[in-house]
Amino acid sequence: MKTSMNKLFRQVFLGLTLVASTQIAIAQDSEAVARGKAKFDHSCAPCHGKGAGDDGREMLPGTYSLKIKYGDTMPAALEDRTDLTSEVISVFVRMGAWSMPPFRKTELSDKEIDDIAAYLAVSSRK
Ligand code: HEC
Repeated sequence: MKTSMNKLFRQVFLGLTLVASTQIAIAQDSEAVARGKAKFDHSCAPCHGKGAGDDGREMLPGTYSLKIKYGDTMPAALEDRTDLTSEVISVFVRMGAWSMPPFRKTELSDKEIDDIAAYLAVSSRK
């Protein structure tokens, strides 16, 4: 009797822990997405945005270059893409690409790149 009660307690405890940790993971995710959006708006959107560019005029070298690169086979705006992993983003951000400057770790940390990836992973779901 005692052991079966123990077992029950253990299972209930395990279940509650699972629910709690899932909720923590979701909360952490949405914080990462919010931080990532802020970073994206600041560091990437001036070139990769969908609306007007940095100075309010339609100058978006990132969006326009990717439009030329992919034509209609892929969305030109990074926020509409569904294929960008943290690893892929990290390579472009650290190496740069044509007129895209490389970002040093002092400008954008690995964690901040992960946040941007978290944002870009959900930004197309609208
Ligand atoms: C000064 C403008 C500029 C800024 C700022 C910029 N980019 Fe870019 N980015 C570009 C251009 C231009 C290209 C396209 C190069 C080409 O034609 O292949 C590009 C390409 C990319 C690509 C490759 C996409 C592909 O499929 O080839 C990724 C990913 C990317 N940028 C992510 C970012 C992120 C994330 C940021 C912000 C941290 C950022 N870029 C900031 C201009 C910029």
